[in-house]
Formats: sequence, structure tokens, C-alpha cells
Amino acid sequence: MADLISIRDLDKPTIEKLLSVSEKMEKNLFTSYDKFPGKVAATLFFEPSTRTHLSFQTAAQRLGMSVVPYYHAASSSTKGESLSDTLKIVDGYADLLVIRHPAEGSARYAAEVCRHPVINAGDGGNQHPTQTLIDLYTIQKAKGKIKGLNVSLIGDLSHARAMRSLLYGLAMFGAKVKLIAPRGLEMDSQIVEEVKEKFDAQVEASEQLDLAGADVAYVCRIQKERFSDPYQAAKMQASFRIMPELLLDAKQDMILLHPLPKIDEIPAEVDASPHAHYFQQASHGVPVRMAVLEHALKEG
Ligand code: NCD
Repeated sequence: MADLISIRDLDKPTIEKLLSVSEKMEKNLFTSYDKFPGKVAATLFFEPSTRTHLSFQTAAQRLGMSVVPYYHAASSSTKGESLSDTLKIVDGYADLLVIRHPAEGSARYAAEVCRHPVINAGDGGNQHPTQTLIDLYTIQKAKGKIKGLNVSLIGDLSHARAMRSLLYGLAMFGAKVKLIAPRGLEMDSQIVEEVKEKFDAQVEASEQLDLAGADVAYVCRIQKERFSDPYQAAKMQASFRIMPELLLDAKQDMILLHPLPKIDEIPAEVDASPHAHYFQQASHGVPVRMAVLEHALKEG
């Protein structure tokens, strides 16, 4: 299957393969330009993005592909063109489509409309499968394994698609997960039940922001664009932060991850801490997305 819409689309052997190809891509980052010359990737971002958009573009170009970017604010969508029409047109131009859209289910819909492979770069609060591959790659690289690690997912677990996808990926690989969210922003209980049932996963929940015992602490921002009440978002944002003092309780080799952008949930002074791994994590976006693009074009 060539589309990548949800992390559920990938089984464990396929993810393992993608992680090992990512490693090769990372080693050969500057010499892979002869893999797909003449192929065109369209990147349709209907929501803001820095890392995901630019790393997909970089990944495609490092594989020798060309990229046609779509700028939502300057597109005919703002004149009222339907998503379906836009997709059909771009599907006629490109060999592969990467899409980010605020509506949950939009990427699945795109895959139904398009002939060419579609990769989900985030559909509302639902899924962000390529971010999960980057996260698993980063954890595996830093820790040498995923199975048995204590991983805390911290922040707005109710709206963050990166967290939803990652919980599934961690459970599949046998990590022990602690979900730490402010009251009202807990992970959807259906997803927790799903991973417990499918993978016999160990998942516990807590409201207490505490890093003790974690091998990996993965933080995300409050997803304020998905709140109906902006004041509520601002209040939550101020209350759930990784202050440097909190790191004193952490295991010495704990790694701190974040999909970025970080706002103030991790203050800038933490960047210098040996725990901070989020910039390395972001740098993995290119090789991992090279592996994803190659997979989609080979299978598609
Ligand atoms: C995330 C996203 O867009 O879901 N960013 C990313 O892709 N690295 C996280 C976020 O916006 O909080």
C-alpha cells in the first residue's frame, strides 16, 4: 500500500524497515539525488508548518525529485474551490501528494480522490504518522531500543495529532507509556483502549507533571488553534511547563523530545541541557521522510 494516512497503516516489520532505511538515508544524505529524477512531489499545506513542509521538500529534492509547493493563502481555495477539485487538479500534475489540512479525515479523503500516493502530514487533531516515525527513529537512535522504556507523553494530549500517532507507535514497540495531561486535555480514552487491546500495552495516566523515572519525556504545546475558547488555551499554556528545576528529578540519561514548535512549555534555557534532544529529533525529519517518500513511490 502506497498511501500513508495513519500510523495504523503500517505494521511493525514495515516500520522497522522504514527506520533502517532512514538510517541509510541519513548516512547518504548528500548522495541520493539519483533515486527519483523526474518525479514530482506536490506539498499541499492548508495549515501552517515549518519543519514538516520544509523537511518533506528537502527530502524530495535530496532524492532527486522536484517539488511543487501549494500556498493556501494564495490559492483558489480562498475563492471557494472545493478540496476535491483542488486535489483532482494537483493529482494530475504530480506523482505523489503530501497533505496537511485542519479537517480530521481529510488525508483519507484525499487518498480516495487521488490516483497517486498520498502522505498525511497532519489532519486536524487526528494523525501525524511521519512525525511518529521520526520520534521512533530518534528514540531508537538515542536509547538503542524502544521496548521496555518508560516514556511520558506530556501536554495537550486531547488535541495533539503527534501524540495520538505516537502513543500507537510506542505501544506497538512495547514501551511503557505514562500520559501526563492537565485536567480536560487527556488522551482520547478510545485510543488508550485500542492500544491496550491490540498490543497489551502498559499505559497509565496522571495529572502530575513529574519526570522521575522517565527514560523519554515527550512534550507538546497546547494546541490553541483547536480550542473553542482562546482564554482557556492561554491559561493551560501558562500552567504546564518544563521548568529547569523539574529536570533535577529526571534520570541522568533521560531525553527530552518535542515535535516543535515549542512556545513556552520548554523555556529557552532548557535548550542547553544535555537532556534536550528536540533539535536532533527535528533534523531526523529529512532522512525519515526520504525513507517514507521512497517507500510510497516504490509501492505506489
Ligand atoms: C506538530 C504538528 O503540526 O502537529 N508539528 C510538527 O509537525 N512538527 C506539532 C504542533 O504543531 O504542536
